Amino acid sequence: MDDKKIAFESVGTAKEIARSAPEIKGVRTGVEGLDEMFFTTKLDENGEVLIKPLGGYPSGGVIHITGVPDTGKSLMAEQFLITQASEGINVCLVTVEQPAPFYVASLKQRAATLGVNWEKIEDRIVVIDAATNSDLRNELQVLFDTLAYGIKTYNVKATVVDSVTGLYEAKEMMARQTVRALYNFIKKWHQTSIFISQKRSGHEELTAEAAGGYGVGHIVDATIVVAKKEILSRYDQSLFGAEIGDLIRTIRIDGCRLSGHDTKTRVMEITKSGIVRVGPPLAEVVRKSGKK
Ligand SMILES: Nc1ncnc2c1ncn2[C@@H]1O[C@H](COP(=O)(O)OP(=O)(O)O)[C@@H](O)[C@H]1O
Ligand SMILES: [Mg+2]
Repeated sequence: MDDKKIAFESVGTAKEIARSAPEIKGVRTGVEGLDEMFFTTKLDENGEVLIKPLGGYPSGGVIHITGVPDTGKSLMAEQFLITQASEGINVCLVTVEQPAPFYVASLKQRAATLGVNWEKIEDRIVVIDAATNSDLRNELQVLFDTLAYGIKTYNVKATVVDSVTGLYEAKEMMARQTVRALYNFIKKWHQTSIFISQKRSGHEELTAEAAGGYGVGHIVDATIVVAKKEILSRYDQSLFGAEIGDLIRTIRIDGCRLSGHDTKTRVMEITKSGIVRVGPPLAEVVRKSGKK
């Protein structure tokens, strides 16, 4: 029949499609210990599995970082932007909650702490202020056109959205639809990307529910869950070898479909000067404190 609409461009053999599949490389995260949590596997001549660290986020991937407030999500985003910019890569930050001047002030401070010369990177960080402009938050098409302009004009290769939650505030039913559209847009522009999402404290801390809480985890390529736990009981005190009132921070890669990854929950540290670092597996810390 003549009125059939066939999407010819969407049909192809695996051979044809594989030709346009990009090779996955590591894009440095800027977070000590996190680069090694992503890896690829290969078989050696004896059929043994060899693990090769990727050395960063999988290139072209959309990485979702989720957690309750004050778990280091924005710091991780800042460390990524600064590290990439210091390697000569142009990056874009879409700030949805914090007005651009405040975010930039924080970036500048972070660069100083990381020992990165601000003058060398300030031209490489493109900022879109969706916190002060409500059209950018409420009309996805405006955000996409603006982002496309920014990416094209400045030859941007990596994009951070902090946070996607701010794009579906008060319309949570739209969460998946919004994130799906943003994901497709980012893929079209070949960006390695971080989507940050805010988790409400009601959501179970370390479960997949934590991954955005609204099924956002199914859309993105990888999800990282960051969490914090206050030591309030004698039991926790001896379990973690910490003091009452201490904060234990953790990080876990909840899933990644572009590469292999560490599946352990690890301890995470935020230094006094505001730098995120990944530490040993939580289980190791618990085992050690049990031996004391
Ligand atoms: N400049 C800084 N110096 C020291 N600690 C900081 C600094 N900025 C943030 N922090 C600490 O890191 C925590 C996490 O910050 P942030 O990444 O902004 O959290 P969120 O997950 O809400 O984005 C803060 O609660 C604070 O304790
Ligand atoms: Mg934040």
